[in-house]
Amino acid sequence: MQLKAMELQGYRNYDSVKLTTEGGVNIFIGPNAQGKTNLLEAIHVLSLTKSHRTSKDKELIGWNSSSAVIRAQMSRRVGDVSLELQLSAQGKKAKVNGLEQRKLSTFVGTLNVVLFAPEDLDIVKGAPGVRRRFMDMEIGQVHPGYLYDMQQYQKILQQRNNYLKSTDIRRASPELLEVWNEQLALTGVKMIQKRKNFILQLQKWAEKIHAGITGGTEHLTVDYKPSFGTADSLDSQDQSSLFGQFMIKLTQSKEQEFRRGTTLTGPHRDDLTFAINGKDVQSFGSQGQQRTAALSLKLAELELMHEEIGEYPLLLLDDVLSELDQTRQTQLIETFQSRVQTFITTTGLESVNMSRLKDASIFHVKDGQLLR
Ligand SMILES: Nc1ncnc2c1ncn2[C@@H]1O[C@H](COP(=O)(O)OP(=O)(O)OP(=O)(O)O)[C@@H](O)[C@H]1O
Ligand SMILES: [Mg+2]
Repeated sequence: MQLKAMELQGYRNYDSVKLTTEGGVNIFIGPNAQGKTNLLEAIHVLSLTKSHRTSKDKELIGWNSSSAVIRAQMSRRVGDVSLELQLSAQGKKAKVNGLEQRKLSTFVGTLNVVLFAPEDLDIVKGAPGVRRRFMDMEIGQVHPGYLYDMQQYQKILQQRNNYLKSTDIRRASPELLEVWNEQLALTGVKMIQKRKNFILQLQKWAEKIHAGITGGTEHLTVDYKPSFGTADSLDSQDQSSLFGQFMIKLTQSKEQEFRRGTTLTGPHRDDLTFAINGKDVQSFGSQGQQRTAALSLKLAELELMHEEIGEYPLLLLDDVLSELDQTRQTQLIETFQSRVQTFITTTGLESVNMSRLKDASIFHVKDGQLLR
């Protein structure tokens, strides 16, 4: 799919701006604090109706405006589509081809994007919670049923934790606990299986892409680490034996759970591990390797979405080029330039290998204005 034109009104530091974009690589260049990330953010908001930087929609509205409007013309395999999203104190209003959508859910996903921003490095470097959120967001985009399982799981987990915290083990009701254990294990097993399959698919692409970017010198592996057992042991298990294992684990850790007042087993304790040439990236990877690994994961998503929806989403790369050496930059751009419409921000082109970007469209960003 391709974004052909976009217009912003009262969005962050853009009072009013229009741009037309080309199919290949589009580069937004300018000093700090001029509005480069704001532009990528606007494209992301148009895709998901949510910013990647804030959960407060109010922050997206320009300080001198009462509402923000993002309009876009895009082409998809099925034909041209126009999108409009308006944000104001009254909430969000979304239009597809001029028709107001009663539910935002029918608007979400008309435009698909994969965004890579500096904070995505945390997928590799950060706490396990960041990796769980990564899995949840990505699986949720392709399998809406997963989000439902996740909400159910969180609800049961919270009730169970409250009970563990507020009850003395000697007074605890075995029946009540048994009911929660069963519910937790039932929804938990569904999540574990979806996560396992997602990581398997993701690994397949991430490995290939990482090898491409590093000219074949690095072999990336991504492993799902469930809170009990191993990913390999999951392979040989069906839903019911996994359920049984989960239940046993809950029973075994009963005393510890009451002592600590919290549930110690389940998807809320899962993690992912990354290795390059067999060595753990979190402990031994250089900054550049960690960044490349995180990038490869995001790029793998492009391929998964392509498999799912039959066309490539847009690729938004915020401030990443200058962090990669020239070989990695070149490989990255060559891998996707012909297939995926890409938007890149950078403060300068000095560190960017331009020989591969001959056909890129360049926009200069200055204080909420765009110059070609
Ligand atoms: N709601 C808003 N209304 C008006 N201006 C805003 C709003 N929110 C943020 N800004 C301004 O937008 C400016 C540019 O932000 P942005 O993050 O896009 O910069 P950038 O060009 O990506 O810079 P960097 O190179 O440092 O990443 C900020 O300095 C801020 O002052
Ligand atoms: Mg920025």
